Amino acid sequence: MNLPIKVLGTGHYVPNQIITNHDLEKLVETSDEWIVSRTGIKERRKVTTETTHEMAYLASKEALKKANIDASEIDIIVVATITENQKTPAVANFVAGLLDIKHDVMSFDVNAACTGFVYALELASSLIQQPKYRKALVIGAETLSNVLDYTDRNTCILFGDGAGAVVIEKGNDNNLGYFYNTSKPDMTNTLDVGTYIKMDGRKVFLFAIDVVEKSILKVLEDANLTIDDIDHIIPHQANERIIMSVAKSMNVSMDKFVMNIASYGNTSAASIPLTLSEYKEKHKETKRVLFVGFGGGFTYGAAIVEV
Ligand code: UT7
Repeated sequence: MNLPIKVLGTGHYVPNQIITNHDLEKLVETSDEWIVSRTGIKERRKVTTETTHEMAYLASKEALKKANIDASEIDIIVVATITENQKTPAVANFVAGLLDIKHDVMSFDVNAACTGFVYALELASSLIQQPKYRKALVIGAETLSNVLDYTDRNTCILFGDGAGAVVIEKGNDNNLGYFYNTSKPDMTNTLDVGTYIKMDGRKVFLFAIDVVEKSILKVLEDANLTIDDIDHIIPHQANERIIMSVAKSMNVSMDKFVMNIASYGNTSAASIPLTLSEYKEKHKETKRVLFVGFGGGFTYGAAIVEV
């Protein structure tokens, strides 16, 4: 079913502090060579004083500015995150406060781990079909450095901090909004409250290769499109090798996949909107893109929209 949306603006925020692979060599038994060859990551960002909601707000502010829209037009705020600084108020409530929103606004957070943004976008796209809502802010924001065990080389090399945001409104019948979001229960990859991320990397890796291709094909089928109808695929940035393996299996050029993992690592729910925002800085004209995400839960999903 089509849930047509227009993406009016995109924005992102990353902290200034850069943590290189060489910095991590000083903390755990690892090497720049191992990290680059196994993941494609060269460096990642780490917050100094920023909170998740401050980064979410700063990304939103940029998205609103690019869309040339005032916060008074926003009726829905959805934030995808697994690293809120407090359980309640939601990060979305903080964003509403920081944007000084005084009118009715529906604001809430979504936890679908690294697939969070794709889930949140489907939710917002469904809601925005109702005439009572004008525009929605959909955000992915994470401070993963707060939940990393810097003595565990299996996890601390992978993740980074950042935020990305989009402003959407209901589209017309010519616009696209196709979604496929689902999950398959898995309890091995966890982030218990007050502790650190624990992960079976190999298991996630094998799961991802399988579901990324499946999700891409499923959403294309639902939209009655082929891969050639898509300008670019913006995948969740977890591991370059996962995407290379999918590209090979699908016989699709790596040029079709937009990658920035080398600079930011895995920023979980922020990775797709952050990559999209950078993509839109380079591509001002309208593009047809496919998002594909996967992560803890296990959750996975894909979307096709014009941006
Ligand atoms: O967004 C979803 C969140 N999770 C993910 O995206 C994770 C997906 N998985 C991955 O990206 C990969 O599985 C990893 C990058 C985590 C690991 O790569 P791998 O090729 O699957 O390596 P592995 O876990 O099979 O480990 C290979 C070797 C092991 O040593 P032995 O047992 O062969 O002697 C590890 O102990 O590499 C070792 N190793 C490391 N060596 C240097 C594991 N981590 C490191 C490290 N530096 N940081």
